[in-house]
Amino acid sequence: MHHFRVLTTIKRYYGKKHSSNMWLERQARDPYVKRAREEDWRCRSAFKLIEIDAKHKLLKPGQLVIDCGCAPGSWTQVIVQKINSNGCDIKLPKGTAIGIDLQYVNPIRGAILLSKCDFTSAKTQAEILQKLGNKKADLVLSDMAPACTGDRSMDHHIIIELCSSVIRFSTVVLKNDGAVLCKLWMGGQQTLLEDAMKKLFLNVKYVKPNASRDDSAEIYLLGRNFKGMI
Ligand SMILES: C[S@@+](CC[C@H](N)C(=O)[O-])C[C@H]1O[C@@H](n2cnc3c(N)ncnc32)[C@H](O)[C@@H]1O
Repeated sequence: MHHFRVLTTIKRYYGKKHSSNMWLERQARDPYVKRAREEDWRCRSAFKLIEIDAKHKLLKPGQLVIDCGCAPGSWTQVIVQKINSNGCDIKLPKGTAIGIDLQYVNPIRGAILLSKCDFTSAKTQAEILQKLGNKKADLVLSDMAPACTGDRSMDHHIIIELCSSVIRFSTVVLKNDGAVLCKLWMGGQQTLLEDAMKKLFLNVKYVKPNASRDDSAEIYLLGRNFKGMI
């Protein structure tokens, strides 16, 4: 029995070591990781938003943007630059960027950060509303991802719940004509989410940036032209 336990422990240890080695090797080979380091983005995810924005023209100076699941902060860095919330360009309108994450997020000049906050909680959403005052948002983004359980359908279900929470909150904070972009992992419930979004937005489409890894089930749902609450 003892012998068996020792063997499983060794297997578990080397199993983990093997997968973390694979992760390190993949990071070393990944051109986006290298570029992120060179261009001073906090992580490679920045390129997903840069690419989506280049194609769909979502971010503009002066906008109010909410970034759900923002740690370590590369999307927020992109948002701050594009909406001019750091006021770097005095000729352009100054935007507002609000980032939220369960984890601690190092400060980003030009962004209001709600660190160590669960976006889905009523307390966090009340705090966001308080930061907004009487203003409404142009854009709500969610790159939130739950910690993987290893069970694909369970993980899919959890991320759909996160997306649903983002969509519900968006109906409260978005301007008419505003937009939502949220990440999901493909699976059986995605059409339900898509259908719910079609009721609220005139244009709904799936977006998969090149920077999103091919072997990942990750995809983004983009809803544009919020119809407003009737
Ligand atoms: C892929 S990372 C986001 C990367 C980020 N877009 C960037 O560019 O730096 C996903 C994040 O979602 C956050 N997250 C997951 N569930 C959350 C929740 N309920 N509330 C807030 N953040 C959450 C995680 O803590 C994690 O930092």
